[in-house]
Amino acid sequence: MVGSKILPEFGHHLEPLLSGRQVLIVTHPRLQRLYGAAVSASLRRQRIKHHLLAIPEGEHHKTMHNYYRILDRACSLGLDRSDTIVTLGGGVIGDMAGFAAATLYRGIRLIHMPTTIVAQQDSSLGGKVGVDVKYGKNLVGAFYQPTLVYTDVSTLQTLSEREFCNGMAEVIKHGVISDPRLFEYLINNRSRIMQREPQALLRMITAALKVKVAVVSADELDRGGRAVLNYGHTVGHALEALSKYRNLKHGEAVAIGMEMAARLAYLKGMVSWDLVRQQRSVLEMYGLPVAMPKYDFARLWKFIGRDKKVDRKQIRFVLPRRLGKVEIISGITRREVRQALELGE
Ligand SMILES: NC(=O)c1ccc[n+]([C@@H]2O[C@H](COP(=O)([O-])OP(=O)(O)OC[C@H]3O[C@@H](n4cnc5c(N)ncnc54)[C@H](O)[C@@H]3O)[C@@H](O)[C@H]2O)c1
Ligand SMILES: [Zn+2]
Repeated sequence: MVGSKILPEFGHHLEPLLSGRQVLIVTHPRLQRLYGAAVSASLRRQRIKHHLLAIPEGEHHKTMHNYYRILDRACSLGLDRSDTIVTLGGGVIGDMAGFAAATLYRGIRLIHMPTTIVAQQDSSLGGKVGVDVKYGKNLVGAFYQPTLVYTDVSTLQTLSEREFCNGMAEVIKHGVISDPRLFEYLINNRSRIMQREPQALLRMITAALKVKVAVVSADELDRGGRAVLNYGHTVGHALEALSKYRNLKHGEAVAIGMEMAARLAYLKGMVSWDLVRQQRSVLEMYGLPVAMPKYDFARLWKFIGRDKKVDRKQIRFVLPRRLGKVEIISGITRREVRQALELGE
């Protein structure tokens, strides 16, 4: 369910879905301050017994330790198999508390209330939940579908500018891989979106999440069809690894990766330079970087090779064919990537 200013009606929509007595809402302290009272009041109106647990924010808190804290709180409150976990937050809370819901008593009801652009049109959809461990991100997890995703785009009003732009990368990606109308909407409505006008956000989030839902429902268990969602991620993941996740956010790395993928497609004669230019201007419109940071090429290439999209030693890239259509291309060479990097205007 998607809407604007629908937080106060959450309890009304939640009540018919519940069979148990209790709800545990997992969030961050900041979101508890911003939205905790409104969510609580809405549950109280329906006489739903609930508790709030706030976990510190940040990717470095998406850990087994905090996952265990959620389980511990749920058990100590006496939640049983018929009870419910609600996640109120971005991808970190959604993934981690979602994993707790997936595993507590082998699975209790899960409801997401995503509050970032990333969560609203990406991480709350598709059923992947999990936590990071010291060996890598998202290495421990499960597939677990929520009963409801309750998306209030008005929560995006309080998102920082950098998080807002970071989230825009995959909105733009969703346009390029399968929705040219969304792409056009982003071009024509930049100021409405950046000023966070409710109707513009609603239109944009609805279109972007439909792309993700369509792709994942054709490939529930990630057996191949979801690969198109990795557009921009081959170089993006390599950049994140190279920067050790410090100075580049995921969306920023993906934006640079999309620029590189479009250039590669141009070099392979798949698209005209126009597409490269158009995509670049939309990324820049939404405050995203497109220029490759200065890294030693040999190291970059090594990290590209480590990415999951390597199929029998062949480097695979998702490349655009036209706006709204991408293809998976195997056997991209080191020389081609180097050329793409050096390609100017
Ligand atoms: N499960 C999936 O399929 C999937 C897909 C994409 C990303 N992810 C995961 O999602 C995570 C990233 O998610 P994210 O980008 O939402 O980051 P996040 O959850 O860390 O949220 C970003 C920041 O924004 C703050 N915040 C959230 N909502 C806010 C609001 N409405 N107002 C003000 N501040 C708010 C948070 O406290 C946090 O500091 C990563 O761990 C990634 O692995 C999962
Ligand atoms: Zn991504």
